[in-house]
Amino acid sequence: MKCAASAGPEQSPPRTEHGAPRIVCRSSFEGRPDRVLPWCEDSPTALEALRAGGQPIASSCSGATVCGRCGVFVIEGGESLPPADATEEAVLRVMGAGGADERLACRLPRGAIDTQIVLRTNYW
Ligand code: FES
Repeated sequence: MKCAASAGPEQSPPRTEHGAPRIVCRSSFEGRPDRVLPWCEDSPTALEALRAGGQPIASSCSGATVCGRCGVFVIEGGESLPPADATEEAVLRVMGAGGADERLACRLPRGAIDTQIVLRTNYW
């Protein structure tokens, strides 16, 4: 099932009305509410889902795992993700990422997430 092209931010429930898992964008700025986006079938990576939902996400390589600009902190839901492979680890290392919760949005696969994942950046 694909989500409607106009799918935007949504509130609860655990899965979106489209039956898709969701991405919760947690702000780094106190007082800003979470933004909840559907992670639709036509977005195989978190990078694409964030873009489809209108959430700002940095990138200069469009998901080629070269730039490292799409780095995110996985706050919740990371246990179901596959570990970073050598390519992702190399980019994260160059970017100075040091935490186990730091991943590249272009390397987070939709298929690994059953219900939701909570992400944060330093600029949301
Ligand atoms: S978009 Fe460039 S590394 Fe993810």
